Amino acid sequence: MSLSPENHPTTAAELIVIIDYGSQYTPLIARCLRDLGYRSESVSAAQCGAGLRARGVILSGGPESAGTGAKIPDWLLDQAVPLLGICYGMQLLVDAAGGKVHSDQQRAFGRDTIELATPDDPLFTGLPRQLVVWMSHCDHVGSLPADLQATAHNAAGVIAAVRHRRWPHWGVQFHPEVTHTSHGKAILANFCQHICAAPAGRGAAKAGREVVLARSALQRVDDLCARLKAEVGAGKVLAAVSGGVDSSVTAVLLARTLSQAQLCCVYINNGLLREHEAAAITAVLRELAIVPQSLDCQQEFVAALRGVTDAEEKRQIIGHEFVRQLEKFAQGKGFTHLAQGTLKSDVIESGGGERTHRIKSHHNVAALPAEMELKLLEPLRDLFKDEVRALGKALALSQRILQRQPFPGPGLAVRIVGEVTPSRLARLRAADAIYLAALHEHGLYDQTWQAFCVLLPLSSTGVRGDRRSQAATVVLRAVQSVDAMTASACELPIEVLATIAARITAQVDGVNRVVYDLTSKPPATIEWQ
Ligand code: XMP
Repeated sequence: MSLSPENHPTTAAELIVIIDYGSQYTPLIARCLRDLGYRSESVSAAQCGAGLRARGVILSGGPESAGTGAKIPDWLLDQAVPLLGICYGMQLLVDAAGGKVHSDQQRAFGRDTIELATPDDPLFTGLPRQLVVWMSHCDHVGSLPADLQATAHNAAGVIAAVRHRRWPHWGVQFHPEVTHTSHGKAILANFCQHICAAPAGRGAAKAGREVVLARSALQRVDDLCARLKAEVGAGKVLAAVSGGVDSSVTAVLLARTLSQAQLCCVYINNGLLREHEAAAITAVLRELAIVPQSLDCQQEFVAALRGVTDAEEKRQIIGHEFVRQLEKFAQGKGFTHLAQGTLKSDVIESGGGERTHRIKSHHNVAALPAEMELKLLEPLRDLFKDEVRALGKALALSQRILQRQPFPGPGLAVRIVGEVTPSRLARLRAADAIYLAALHEHGLYDQTWQAFCVLLPLSSTGVRGDRRSQAATVVLRAVQSVDAMTASACELPIEVLATIAARITAQVDGVNRVVYDLTSKPPATIEWQ
């Protein structure tokens, strides 16, 4: 569909259009604009026909290199419509204006600090001169044509933002749409307000993140219940619950909407859980007054993973096994739908968009069998983690449930690099329990967004009691995040980390080395596989 006055007869000229070149973060641009109270619509480059009418256009990032893939249509460059290029979008603007984009050592991922050269630039109105920003690029701008002016640099002198001298075109090399970029939302607000003069929804632009989240959550509950009711009709739903926030919110929404006879919750123990996980899950479900059917499938999952070392293969096996077990349980019971707590971030990482790369196959999205007997019901598919937590709050879920850390469906299988065996599972469980207990003991657990151990298939040399040892390595991971799309390593005190390393190496057989993972997302992901 091309955006044209015909498609949006009354409102197209008010819209901010996002041209999606396949960035993982394109949906975050749309989310930021929505939170700020601006209406936007995402279209692919191919959909963006010459009749496009918009208040402004944002060119997203993308996995390709400028000059080799898509181009900004000439007619769009000639129009007086304001453009903001983000990352690859900025490189496309530079390329189109005759500048040079290089692929070499100036790659950057994660945190960077930039200095504004022209603080009176309307894009940066009200911002400090130095900004902490989040980068994710393999290419960078080497030289600018006369028409473009650099408006910000990082400490190494790399161009971080540009502006056209005559046309209303701006570009930023960093990602204002991710939560780790300080003042990112203010930059997008400046573009919409000062550059596009776009009309915002009343009050939204001024409200803080928490207020916006709470307000949209309240509106969302009724909307989601109405949609579930319409979708299920007289059908019968099997809801997969795990004790996590996402499936709990999904189950509570369904329980509000459907009759008791229409809903059955089922919990699968896949044998890939952490120590004490089963008890925690039972406590959560009891608190929610959910009495699930429990399926003990530990042996089936562990057997299916025997001999498998490839991360994507593990994910495919686990996704298929989940559906196989659920369909086996559902047989002959009249179920029409399978509900799961899939999030937007699961969909994006699984390669949701036309040009978007698959980063990993989330078990509930890209690791499902091609043919399924039950229709999928995923009310949270368009929401990010923090939005789901806000929804849970609006549904009166307790803080204890809302603040539960994410735990991936494929469980410890994606935290054991290499083959999943009963002895390696036991080793990882023991190390992980020591790590989490120590974080609780030092009052640090609640300061992490997600904390866990990873077991590597890497043995190294050690010395214990005057004897040589050759044993495995455990990684400690703890990250800060909001929506799982970006993450930074928590700055845990070194003395606490050293205590944890000492405990793990003393108490867990077969481990003689413990390391702390300092990598942000990007370039890493939160999980190791
Ligand atoms: P990554 O590791 O890709 O993960 O940065 C982002 C968030 O998603 C969780 N995760 C999963 N959750 N099924 C899930 O339910 C999956 O297949 C899956 N893979 C990753 C991960 O723990 C993190 O919170």
